[in-house]
Amino acid sequence: MKARILQLLREQEGYVSGQDICRKLSVSRTAVWKVIGQLKEEGYVIEAVQNKGYRLLEVPDLVTEGEVASRLHTGWAGHPTVFLERTDSTNNEAKRMAEAGASHGTLVVAENQEAGKGRRGRSWSSPEKSGIWMTLIMKPEFPPSQASMLTLVAAMAVAEGVRSVTGLEAGIKWPNDIVVNGKKICGILTEMSAEPDYINHVVVGIGINANMEEFPPDIREKATSLSLELGEKVSRAAVIAEVWNAFELYYDKFLENADLSSLREKYEAHLLNRGKEVCVLDPKGEWRGVARGIDRNGRLLIEQTGSGDEGLRAVDSGE
Ligand code: BTN
Repeated sequence: MKARILQLLREQEGYVSGQDICRKLSVSRTAVWKVIGQLKEEGYVIEAVQNKGYRLLEVPDLVTEGEVASRLHTGWAGHPTVFLERTDSTNNEAKRMAEAGASHGTLVVAENQEAGKGRRGRSWSSPEKSGIWMTLIMKPEFPPSQASMLTLVAAMAVAEGVRSVTGLEAGIKWPNDIVVNGKKICGILTEMSAEPDYINHVVVGIGINANMEEFPPDIREKATSLSLELGEKVSRAAVIAEVWNAFELYYDKFLENADLSSLREKYEAHLLNRGKEVCVLDPKGEWRGVARGIDRNGRLLIEQTGSGDEGLRAVDSGE
């Protein structure tokens, strides 16, 4: 009920009468009054005026069920969402939950990660209450070979979610870094448990630098946050909800062929490397070319230059 009341308050520019809330939600005036009291305790500033009703004046940057659920319009992604005050890593937590039987679509969100993980065994700095640390549990039916593409689907969803909430021009640095004004604002770590021909579960972990005010000197040149780029704090709950709203739509398209053929154009529209020179660190020898787009499996298509060996070559992220 809290989520529905918040939604009604947020949708209305002016006042919402207590009577309207009672009628729309089929609840008593006392129940509404109690929820308004709880919201105020959580930090919402709500004006109450006799004969007019309630008006939402200020929303704290809370990652709570009410704030996320009132904006989440998905059928399965984020149902349920489990909110944790702290954990080692939301990916680890999600894996433990998946093994214990958590269903496809369960989302784990934590305020604090004590051992956040990055790609290639690196750690991921996860300061408390300013970032978004979350992992989606998936139990898909396609073969394990297709699972790595979920990372690209997630990258598109983050770019879309960030754009819709902040208006910032978030782009994708292939395969899955989300970049704003040349600096990274998000990393994605997908992990899988599988048999040779069967996926037990996949966890898609997303870390978004939302409201950090500064970064350690060693990453300051490369990383930024949404609030630093925007000049004001963002609602983390809104970003969370919009990322999964977009993810579910893109995932449906992905499922059409269990590859990226239906999403390629959209992905390429966000692709920052497109038309740029890239250097491929192939173990057989480094080579250069111009990135042109991606193929249906998410490999980067590169037009090789200067070797007499011209033509489009596809590389995967290992290279
Ligand atoms: C990268 O190295 O770019 C990937 C970083 C992924 C970080 C996120 S934060 C939520 C989830 N839990 C983790 O421990 N890692 C991912």
